Amino acid sequence: MKSKKITIAIDGFSSCGKSTLAKDLAKKLGYIFIDSGAMYRAVSLYTLNNNYIKNGIIDEPALIESLKDIELYFELNSTTNSPEIILNGVNTETEIRTPRVAEVVSKVAVIKEVREKLVLEQRKIGIHGGLVMDGRDIGSVVFPNAELKLFITASTDVRVERRHKELISKGIDISKYDVKFNLEERDLIDSTRKESPLIKTGDAIIIDNTKLTREEQLNEAFNLAKSLIIL
Ligand code: DC
Repeated sequence: MKSKKITIAIDGFSSCGKSTLAKDLAKKLGYIFIDSGAMYRAVSLYTLNNNYIKNGIIDEPALIESLKDIELYFELNSTTNSPEIILNGVNTETEIRTPRVAEVVSKVAVIKEVREKLVLEQRKIGIHGGLVMDGRDIGSVVFPNAELKLFITASTDVRVERRHKELISKGIDISKYDVKFNLEERDLIDSTRKESPLIKTGDAIIIDNTKLTREEQLNEAFNLAKSLIIL
C-alpha cells in the first residue's frame, strides 16, 4: 500500500555513508533528516565533559542519574541546510565528531538507560512520518514499522578511506591505522551489545555502496522510496 509520508530507517556499520544517504534522500523527498548517532555522540560528550569517564571506565550510576539534565534538540543550519545538535543550549556539532568522542561513544551507547531516553526522543521526532533517520537500531527498535528499511554496507577499506579523508579535511591529524582500529572496535561493540545491537532486520533492503557514487546510491534509495509514496 502506498502512503503519503513514510518513515525511512537507515542502519549499518560505522562510516558506511548512512548519514550522507539519509541527508540526500530527505532533501530529495522534502523530509526531515535525523542522524541518531549525533544524539549518542552528544551524550558521550556530556559524559566526558562531566568527568564520568576515568581511565576508559564509565561511572554509569552518575551518568544515569544525570540523564534528566541532558537536553538535546536539532537546529537547522541555514547555510549547510543540515540539522545540528544542540546539547543543553550549546551547538556541539563539530565537537561530537572528534576522535575523543568517537573513542567512547560505543561504550556509552550500550547503556540501557541512555538508549531508552534517546529512543523515546527519536520516536517523538518521527511521530508524523516524513522522516529519514539513520543509526544502528532504527529499523529494529526505534521504528520497527517503518515503511522502508535500508541496511547500508561498504568494504572496510573504503570506509576507512572515507572517514580518514573526512577527518583530515576537518584538520584532525589521525592515521589510517587509528581510524581503522576505531571503526572495527565500534562495529564489534555495536553489533554484539545486549541492548539493541546492530542487526539487519528481515525486511531491510541491503545497499552495498562500495562501488557506488553518492548519486548512484541516492537514486537507488529514491527509487525504492518512490514505489511506496503517493507523490
Ligand atoms: O552513526 P555514528 O557513527 O555517528 O554513531 C556513533 C555511535 O553511536 C555508534 O558507534 C553507535 C551509536 N549509535 C547507536 O548505538 N544507535 C544508533 N541508533 C546510532 C548510533
